[in-house]
Amino acid sequence: MPMQRHEYVSDVWRDGIFENKVVFCTGGAGSICSVQVRAMVHLGANAAIIGRNVEKTEKMAADIMTARKGSKVLALGGVDVRSIESLQAAADRCAKELGSIDFVIAGAAGNFLAPLEQISSNAFKSVMDIDVLGSYNTVKATIGYLKESAAKYKTDGITPPPRGTGGRIIFVSATLHYSGTVMQGAPSVAKAGVDALAHSVCLEYGPFGITSNVISPGPISGTEGMERLSKKENAAASKRMIPSGRWGTVKEIADSTVYLFSDAANYVNGEILVVDGGAWHTSGVG
Ligand code: HXC
Repeated sequence: MPMQRHEYVSDVWRDGIFENKVVFCTGGAGSICSVQVRAMVHLGANAAIIGRNVEKTEKMAADIMTARKGSKVLALGGVDVRSIESLQAAADRCAKELGSIDFVIAGAAGNFLAPLEQISSNAFKSVMDIDVLGSYNTVKATIGYLKESAAKYKTDGITPPPRGTGGRIIFVSATLHYSGTVMQGAPSVAKAGVDALAHSVCLEYGPFGITSNVISPGPISGTEGMERLSKKENAAASKRMIPSGRWGTVKEIADSTVYLFSDAANYVNGEILVVDGGAWHTSGVG
């Protein structure tokens, strides 16, 4: 059943703020990224979602399209972010069919629970390749389009940009590496790399009018990540440790996404927006 609007975005945002804009999202069929895209589509954007699994990606694109009548959501399945060739082809197709790439969400990630000494070198490399190389490839494949989008809104450098900007990228990271996380060595290392990449993009492409920020979700209910990484019997104790007293929702990540892509965040660049109810502050306590 399609999600109801109140499940994926707050009603504080103005309708149509992303009209004529295009979002390109890797990992777009996943439980967090699909809702980030759905919120953007609801508010006027068209989108391309990129995934490895063709059927899952197509099904999700059709579902996201129900968020707004007349929206276009392109399913680009069979694409592995580890391959720059296939990612570049996806970016080119998105720009050709939808007209531009104004916003990018680098969301594809790999993860499993395992102690460091028990994973193979290849397993460690797989996570690094999906998260770090995949995010880099996403930048490489889309940066030309982001520059074109940002150029439409560039001012003299003194005047703030006009209403409705473009040329923005959000990396989906995590808080795992702030204190280190057991059984999550590879993704912790990888997400530290993703954060560093976001900062480099900010420095190198800020002068083009591009903004590069990170959203770091904490424990989010109903996601593939939490499904695979948390043990049901530990859920109550883990919630007690979180200052906000609960796990977050995908809607709360979508709202943060809308904020960073909206005019409200014009001067936010190179930042990490942690959306975790304060969880990481208590991760070493107890
Ligand atoms: C140990 C594993 C493993 C597991 C795979 N491997 N699963 N090792 N435990 N559970 C090993 C394999 O044996 C192989 O090594 C190597 O990893 C590569 O595996 P492949 O099967 O070839 O698959 P590949 O396509 O490379 O990708 C592997 C994968 C990926 C990383 C597991 O398929 C994946 O992550 N899928 C899940 C996506 C996901 O859950 N996304 C949500 C992320 S949430 P050998 O040596 O045998 O060749 C997230 C948020 C975190 O990141 C924060 C939470 C609070």
